[in-house]
Amino acid sequence: MEKISVLFVCLGNICRSPMAEFVMKKIVSDRNMSERFFIASAATSREEEGNQMHYGTRRKLSEKGVPFEQHFATVIKRSDYEKYDYIIGMDSSNIRNMLSFFGGDREGKIKLLLSFTDDERSVADPWYTGDFEKTYDDIILGCTALADRFEKKHGIK
Ligand code: 4NP
Repeated sequence: MEKISVLFVCLGNICRSPMAEFVMKKIVSDRNMSERFFIASAATSREEEGNQMHYGTRRKLSEKGVPFEQHFATVIKRSDYEKYDYIIGMDSSNIRNMLSFFGGDREGKIKLLLSFTDDERSVADPWYTGDFEKTYDDIILGCTALADRFEKKHGIK
C-alpha cells in the first residue's frame, strides 16, 4: 500500500519542524500506523543547513519521552512538492515562503499545522522566546488533530 508522505516545514529545521517530525512519528507509532507513513522535515532557509536540532528541542523531546534520532537540518527542494502528499508549515511566513518557492499550491498540499485544530494560528516560535514547552504543546495539539484527520480521511484503523 502506498505510504502517506508528510513534510513538516519551518524556517531553520532545527526547532519546530523536527520537533513536529518526531512527535508525529510517535503519535502514528502509538496508533500502530507507522508503516502507512513517511514523515520528514525541512527548512525554507539555508540559515541552519547541516546543523543538528536545537538543544531546547532535544531536551524537550527527551523530557516528554518522544524518541528521536540525530537530525541534520535540510532545505526544501522543488521536487518535494511532487514527493509529499502533505506539506505542513509551522507559521504563516513558512506558508508564504513555500507558496513563493513552489510557485503556488496547485494540489492544495500546503497547510498550516494548527489549521487542523479549532484554533488556526502559527505554532509558538521558541527561537525568540526560548519557551520550548509552549511550542511542544502547540505541536502536540496540531499533530494529534492531523493524525485524527488521517484516520478519518484515509480510513486507517
Ligand atoms: P526553527 O527555528 O525555524 O523552528 O528551526 C529557527 C531557527 C533559526 C532561525 C529562526 C528560527 N534563524 O533566524 O536563524
